[in-house]
Amino acid sequence: MTQTDIHEIMTKVCSFPSIPGTTAKLLKLLDDPDIPASQIEETVRYDPGLTANILKLANSAYFGFASKVGSVKQAVVLLGNKRVTQLVMASCVNAIIQKPVVGYELPPGELWRHSIAVSVASEGLMKELELSTNQEVFTAALLHDVGKLILGEFVKEDLEKIEALTSEGMPFQEAEHEVLGIDHAQLGAHILKTWSLPPDIISAVRYHHDPDSAGETNTLVDIVHVADVLSLMIGIGAGREGLHYEPSPSATKRLGIKASHLEGVASRTLQWVNELSDVFGLNENM
Ligand SMILES: [Fe+2]
Ligand SMILES: [Fe+2]
Repeated sequence: MTQTDIHEIMTKVCSFPSIPGTTAKLLKLLDDPDIPASQIEETVRYDPGLTANILKLANSAYFGFASKVGSVKQAVVLLGNKRVTQLVMASCVNAIIQKPVVGYELPPGELWRHSIAVSVASEGLMKELELSTNQEVFTAALLHDVGKLILGEFVKEDLEKIEALTSEGMPFQEAEHEVLGIDHAQLGAHILKTWSLPPDIISAVRYHHDPDSAGETNTLVDIVHVADVLSLMIGIGAGREGLHYEPSPSATKRLGIKASHLEGVASRTLQWVNELSDVFGLNENM
């Protein structure tokens, strides 16, 4: 890849959609655990899509609330700020991630399903390992493959070269780097830097395929890495990349993960992803 191509990629990054105003405002509000539900409803009420999604989620079988939830305020009280925040972020990323990612052979919505799966699996792993969970885990996992959206278009032309390298045993992201001059993890981290996201999130995205290179030990990096592999193992979002991907033995050792941890997390992840896909009407397209 020439310098011009890299410049072209960077130009695309600059025109990458930013987080919409209402969403940014809402995420800020939800960050405060003491925020009254009425104030959240006030912000959401002008967004029919978001209102519909929050209500659909609150009424989904996953939560199994005894009576029907009819207002955003009630939904926020029942689901809690955390779940609502996750839904808002999923909605926001959904709008960006819907298109097919050609070069990676991911159909429309599949990258989104994969991103949600990695988020849920990350949280599930934190819980299994009795680590205190925070919102950053969900965000890092949700955005870990965002670089693929941009690179997908470039991979399309160079796929044969990348495939030739991977068939010789080179890991996918290394082959990407070799052929394109940059890999999707590096590019993703770059995008998030332009969004001014916290350094731990950027680092989890940057090293999600290679947690051992992250420098200092970072649980967030290891968790997102293992959750990514787990999601690919259960068949969510494999595309081209999933065929050449294994977990880092050092990361699983650092976290103290056992097979028994992974089983429970895998089944809960599948259930939640299907539930959310229903909310976003993705299952009909699958
Ligand atoms: Fe990735
Ligand atoms: Fe991934």
